[in-house]
Amino acid sequence: MSDLHQSWQIGAVRIPSRLVLAPMAGVSVRAYRRQARRFGAGLVWSEMVSAAGLGHGSRRTRDYLRIDPDEHPIALQIFGSEPAEAAEAARMAEAAGADIVDLNLGCPVRKVMKSGAGSALLGQPELACRIVEEMAAAVSVPVTVKLRSGIEPGSRTCIELGPRLVAAGAQALVLHPRSQRQMYGGSADHSLTVELASLVKVPVVASGDIRSGEQARALIAGGAAAVMIGRAAQGNPWLLSEILSGEEKEPAPDEVAAELIHFMREVERELGERRAQSFLKKFYGWYLRRGRFPRQLRRELVEAGTLSSTERLLLAAAPQAEPLVVGLEDASRR
Ligand SMILES: Cc1cc2nc3c(=O)[nH]c(=O)nc-3n(C[C@H](O)[C@H](O)[C@H](O)COP(=O)(O)O)c2cc1C
Repeated sequence: MSDLHQSWQIGAVRIPSRLVLAPMAGVSVRAYRRQARRFGAGLVWSEMVSAAGLGHGSRRTRDYLRIDPDEHPIALQIFGSEPAEAAEAARMAEAAGADIVDLNLGCPVRKVMKSGAGSALLGQPELACRIVEEMAAAVSVPVTVKLRSGIEPGSRTCIELGPRLVAAGAQALVLHPRSQRQMYGGSADHSLTVELASLVKVPVVASGDIRSGEQARALIAGGAAAVMIGRAAQGNPWLLSEILSGEEKEPAPDEVAAELIHFMREVERELGERRAQSFLKKFYGWYLRRGRFPRQLRRELVEAGTLSSTERLLLAAAPQAEPLVVGLEDASRR
């Protein structure tokens, strides 16, 4: 079985473990990515950033390119359908400090598809390759592509398109082997990931439904360079270290509460209190899947009103979390 601690490379970028944190819009903020690095992710990914938004000079869009010093290596992901605009966005991502610039060929959301970007590009192979060519010519860091299997259920577009994207300049591919129409239903068909990995000389990263060390090791033994963890790691950074070590160990309630409080403070520093409050609501239930807390606590946290009252509720439920929070805050300032 393969060792997930083995380093690997995308172009000249050295990546210290085979675990990659998935890009997730509305989730993958800097605080989330930094935490994943602490728990063993070798590479983290930004959520998709609009090339058109960057082109129009939107400040909010530009903020998505911000990177903290302890995040590297990091891939910043661009979505767009215009080669020159995507190339300019790639330049901006490189200037912002991206180690890798990724193109989104997977987003199934209607608004993105209607603009011709995301998984719509799976139906426009020539245009997709032109975008990759122009992005690769614009930057000196590696350009990668994250794609779905195709548009229709059962489609094998990725098998035909993957090698063409590599020929156009992609230095790695990430495959989420679901079709665009599937959205997140059914299951990921990783026989496609293994097949694609056998066809290209660049690393292929497997994304979709990976929740255990066993699955991760099997995919790597099958030819994937690394595995990407998405939904299973939401509010559950412990899963990353469990996958890496192959050992499951239920975190103590104090540890869960301390990570959540530290995460809340990091998000508040990043987004400001108002945005942090609504952003964080979905995380409470995710965190409380670990640590064996009483059932009603999630609702109490969601309804608490302010972040400081949420924090007080957590400390009442897990009083020993306080010194752990101090330790986490100290370490993050270093
Ligand atoms: C809420 C959410 C947001 C996502 N946003 C992005 C995104 O911005 N870019 C992208 O390439 N994939 C995005 N994805 C897809 C994930 O990166 C991943 O490929 C997919 O969820 C399958 O992996 P999982 O089963 O480990 O979650 C998103 C998925 C979710 C659930």
